[in-house]
Amino acid sequence: MPAAEKPPAACLIGWPAAHSRSPLIHHHWLRALGIEGGYTIESVPPEDLADFVGRLSHHGFVGANVTIPHKERALLLSVPDERAKAVGAANTLWYQGGTLFSTNTDIEGFLNNLDASVPGWDAATDALVLGAGGASRAVVFGLIERGITRVHLANRTAGRAQALADQFGAAVVPVAWETVGEVLPRAGLLVNTTSLGMKGQPTLDVDVGLLPQEAVVADLVYVPLQTPLLTAARARGLRTADGLGMLLHQAVRGFELWFGKRPEVTPELRALVEDDVTKV
Ligand code: ATR
Repeated sequence: MPAAEKPPAACLIGWPAAHSRSPLIHHHWLRALGIEGGYTIESVPPEDLADFVGRLSHHGFVGANVTIPHKERALLLSVPDERAKAVGAANTLWYQGGTLFSTNTDIEGFLNNLDASVPGWDAATDALVLGAGGASRAVVFGLIERGITRVHLANRTAGRAQALADQFGAAVVPVAWETVGEVLPRAGLLVNTTSLGMKGQPTLDVDVGLLPQEAVVADLVYVPLQTPLLTAARARGLRTADGLGMLLHQAVRGFELWFGKRPEVTPELRALVEDDVTKV
């Protein structure tokens, strides 16, 4: 069949081609919306990335997701929007008028998941964010955009927290990792962006008992789905948002850009991916 008649297809570019939930999510939406299209995993080594991305449409793709270790370089190989630039990494690529654009959908994934899971969360004036990597930059950008007054930022390596404060301005207040306990009583929102609590990693040592009663706790870790942090927060009666919700919500924009319809994060989709995550 000539290329022009082929159904649209997107892909996930990574190296090595790690197990990813993205095909499960996009195939579900293609089926649910009755769209003829595809989503594959493309294992592309670093030395081939520039050529692969430069010729993405020649490979038959209308766009792509990008994952480890290519997210930073993908930004340089495309025309990034403000979000990709602020995070310093692109996770979604698409064509518009023959030009390859990029964005970072972790910001809206984080915010839309909070809006869906814990409405009213943005009444908080003070947030405490743990971690200062790429995921943290997306979270901090989103919190500032939504008008959170102060984002207290704690990281094991203090210099990385300071770098985010330098980038995002006075709303970001660096906090020493050892003094997190002092900020907890003021935090209307606690967000873990570190890998602590992830399967095979040490547990995050934070006393949720020190948080105010109306506080919301969000964890970006989704393996396991119920992290020790979320379990402790729920046991205290606090409202929570989990990492799987963010994963599902961050996928919406790419699908819409590639296939032209905005998909929904439904309980059915969540159950499907939850089943896959809990099988690990
Ligand atoms: P991502 O892009 O997912 O944010 P990353 O940039 O590798 O990933 O960031 C991982 C985060 O988890 C960092 O904030 C890291 O702290 P450092 O900057 O000090 O490395 C944090 N992290 C990982 N292991 C940790 C540990 N054992 N204790 C405390 N923080 C840890």
